Amino acid sequence: MARLRIGVLVSGRGSNLQALIDSTKAGKLDAEIALVISDVADAFALERTRTEGIPGRYVDPGPRRSRLSEDAEAEIITTLDEARVDLVALAGFMRILSPAFVRHFKGRMLNIHPSLLPSFPGLHVQQQALDYGVKFSGCTVHFVDEGVDSGPIIIQAAVPVLDGDTEETLAARILREEHRIYTEAIKLFGEGRLKIEGRRVTVLP
Ligand code: GRF
Repeated sequence: MARLRIGVLVSGRGSNLQALIDSTKAGKLDAEIALVISDVADAFALERTRTEGIPGRYVDPGPRRSRLSEDAEAEIITTLDEARVDLVALAGFMRILSPAFVRHFKGRMLNIHPSLLPSFPGLHVQQQALDYGVKFSGCTVHFVDEGVDSGPIIIQAAVPVLDGDTEETLAARILREEHRIYTEAIKLFGEGRLKIEGRRVTVLP
C-alpha cells in the first residue's frame, strides 16, 4: 500500500499533531502529514507546521461557536480531497462536524479524546473526571461517527487519578498516553488491520 496520507484538523496547541509528526520522522509511522487545517488563525499548531515545513492552512469557521459554517465545511472537504488524504485525524479540533461531513469521511476519520469513553465526553473532561471522583481516567482513540465522542473505539489507555491531582496534572499524565496511542491507532489503520463491526473494532493479525 502507498504511504498513508493524513490530514490533521487542529484548533490549538497541537501537541498531538507534533507527536504524529515525530512518529513519522522517527519511522514509527509509515505516513505523511499531507495537510494541517486549523479553525483558529493563531493556533500554535500552525506554527508547528511552519517549523516542520508541512502545508498548514487556516479556514475561517464562520460565526457559530461550536460548529463550522457550511462554507467552512465545504472548503475543508475540498482541501482534504485535493490533498488526497487517506485519513483525517482530529487532534484537539474543537468543533462538532456535521453529519454530511462525517459521512464524507466515514470509516477514515479518527479522534482522540482525553477520557475513557463513554465516560466524560465533551469539554472540561479532566475536571469532570476529578469532580466525579474516578480513580482511573485515560484517553480514547475512536472512529468519528455522527455523535459527539461516540464512535467505535480503537484503543484506550488508562492512567491513575492521584490524590492531589489538579486538572493540569491529570491532563499532563493523560497527554503522554494520548501521544503514544494516537500513533499506535493510526499505524493499525494504515496497515489495514482495523475491522469495524457495529460498535466493536477488532485488530486483525
Ligand atoms: C487533547 O487532550 C485532545 O485529546 C483533546 O484536546 C487536547 C488537544 O491537545 N481533544 P493538543 O492540541 O493536541 O496539544
